[in-house]
Amino acid sequence: MSSSSYQEHFSRAASDPDGFWLEQARRIRWFRAPGQGHSPAAQGGIQWFADGELNTAWLALDAHVQAGRGEQSALIYDSPVTGTQQRLSYAELTGRVARFAGALAGLGVGRGDRVVIYMPMVPEAVIGMLACARLGAVHSVVFGGFAPHELAIRIDDARPKVVLSASCGIEVDRIIPYKPLLDAALAQAEHTPGATVVLQRSPARAGLQPGRDHDWTALEAASAPAEPVPVRGSDPLYILYTSGTTGKPKGVVRDNGGHAVAMHYSMEVVYGMQPGEVFWAASDVGWVVGHSYIVYAPLIYGCTTVLYEGKPVRTPDAGAFWRVISEHRVAGMFTAPTAFRAIRKEDPDGALMSQYDLSCLRRLFLAGERLDPPTYEWLKQRTGLPVLDHWWQTETGWAIACNPVGLEYFPEKPGSATRPTPGFQVEILDPDGAPCSTGQQGAVCVRQPLPPGCLLGIWEDPERFRSAYLERYPGYYLSGDGGYIDAEGDLFVMGRMDDVINVAGHRLSTGELEEIVASHPAVAECAVFGISDELKGQLPLGLVVLKDGCTQAAREVSTELIALVREKVGAVACFRQAVVVHRLPKTRSGKILRRTLRDLADGEPVAVPSTIDDPAILEEIRSSLAARSG
Ligand code: COA
Ligand code: AMP
Repeated sequence: MSSSSYQEHFSRAASDPDGFWLEQARRIRWFRAPGQGHSPAAQGGIQWFADGELNTAWLALDAHVQAGRGEQSALIYDSPVTGTQQRLSYAELTGRVARFAGALAGLGVGRGDRVVIYMPMVPEAVIGMLACARLGAVHSVVFGGFAPHELAIRIDDARPKVVLSASCGIEVDRIIPYKPLLDAALAQAEHTPGATVVLQRSPARAGLQPGRDHDWTALEAASAPAEPVPVRGSDPLYILYTSGTTGKPKGVVRDNGGHAVAMHYSMEVVYGMQPGEVFWAASDVGWVVGHSYIVYAPLIYGCTTVLYEGKPVRTPDAGAFWRVISEHRVAGMFTAPTAFRAIRKEDPDGALMSQYDLSCLRRLFLAGERLDPPTYEWLKQRTGLPVLDHWWQTETGWAIACNPVGLEYFPEKPGSATRPTPGFQVEILDPDGAPCSTGQQGAVCVRQPLPPGCLLGIWEDPERFRSAYLERYPGYYLSGDGGYIDAEGDLFVMGRMDDVINVAGHRLSTGELEEIVASHPAVAECAVFGISDELKGQLPLGLVVLKDGCTQAAREVSTELIALVREKVGAVACFRQAVVVHRLPKTRSGKILRRTLRDLADGEPVAVPSTIDDPAILEEIRSSLAARSG
């Protein structure tokens, strides 16, 4: 890339998006180069490079082998929970992906078919994703911490031909058998996939149902490699479900062409990486960070990626991240602030950190939730490295705002994600749709067209896409976050303006949690909202009003509600507080005053809203909450 400045990229991407991105598109390898920039997508959003032809898996693997990188490590699997490590070169990973693609083709998977992947952090999860891409099939990875009910919802929405899974996952020292969870999900789902493929892991092997369940290793070994299938730039690569404001998750659809171009561009501009270097995103393949920066971007760009099956702490200690960085010579590392909060809590003085040679590490990247200034300061002080906050979402697939180190390194400001990334024309709008003034907080929006890599739409629901993102401010994409831009043009993202909460970097819908809590027979009404938590950023808290005449003890209902959410959503929801109250504060028109409740629970000063129907309720709730915390 030329040594163009940030401003030059930003201005060109804004004034001539098609010209700018077609030029970027020429920097990756296509089977047929695109001549078309952006156009409307059937799914409701914008598609890029619709007339181009490529194959994302070929681009991420075979192309590097052809270019002489076959012997370079493509993937380093580091698994403290099993005590194993494995390196797969580009040639080896290409071979395994081609063979597993052959296995999937043998099960009837072809272009456009969906495959659900419910797996722990093992190389086969990556192989499964890339094998789908090789066939032009559409994968939908479901985070392993979700319960059967969540998996079933996604199976019914995506209607996969095949589901890929493993016999178990390992949470620190706890074996989580996945197969019974998969079986339960398949029993709950209305859609029946034709087959499942199960990776048998030695800590807990699974029983396989003849005719439906296939053994991964045997199937892969018995299959012939499949050739990459050319797809259109605008064809879907994957669906990734994320929490919206209702109980039903949104299936974010990503394309092949725009995604590949954005991934390539971001490795250079956002992360300042060079091909051949080691990049590590300490996340999970079940989240967008895992899709973009464990799997696709590093491989498309020719880096080595690290797949880490462990935690920041307890596997075995708070030095784990530093060990991985040092041992694998990681140059760029990306994780969520909550991971460093966990490390800092256990190793505040960095004693474990100082045991490792971290001279390889150039930069730390943080996203997934707000990077709180104390965590930023600690990291900065301990590492002396650039600590770069960047802001993005499942929907965009890459950073909307970042410190674009590949172009220019702006002074770091704690609490700011720095500048809008070239391609994202970020504006702050007030409730009337007028631009906010400098420093004034409002809705963070992006002027259309969104750049390549962003969502095509919501799977089979263009209307939901329109109403969730486009309707509020015509001509803009509504991010759902609130924030402001300061006098120097730096963006500060302050938090969600809707019912989405962020628990340890995991996105959850309070609307969905409420639906589950409300389904309990003793519950008349409830409100679930996020409260501040020092480690996880936010935690969900439920306030519950019991039905008249309910004879069950409040404590018992509360315990049942906690168990119910764990059963339905999974442990990852971290729903551990359900407080029974007599009534909920509402506006005169009957709307629950969530903001007021959140401030109350956080111990913040509460301005009594003029619309409240009965201010005395607030005192009652305050004392119920005080009783909860003892
Ligand atoms: N499969 C099964 N269960 C899982 C799981 C998985 N893949 N991931 C998490 N869980 C379980 C945990 O075991 C825990 O169960 P428990 O309630 O029985 O203890 C529960 O879900 C909550 O998990 P988590 O919120 O991750 O809490 P934790 O205490 O285990 O770990 C952190 C806390 C901060 C160390 C951890 O959240 C972390 O590493 N976060 C990094 C953030 C991240 O990767 N974000 C992704 C976007 S970048
Ligand atoms: P997800 O779609 O799971 O990646 O979650 C996206 C949401 O996480 C965003 O809408 C924000 O609310 C939050 N988020 C992600 N990165 C940041 C960041 N750097 N600063 C503040 N919030 C962030």
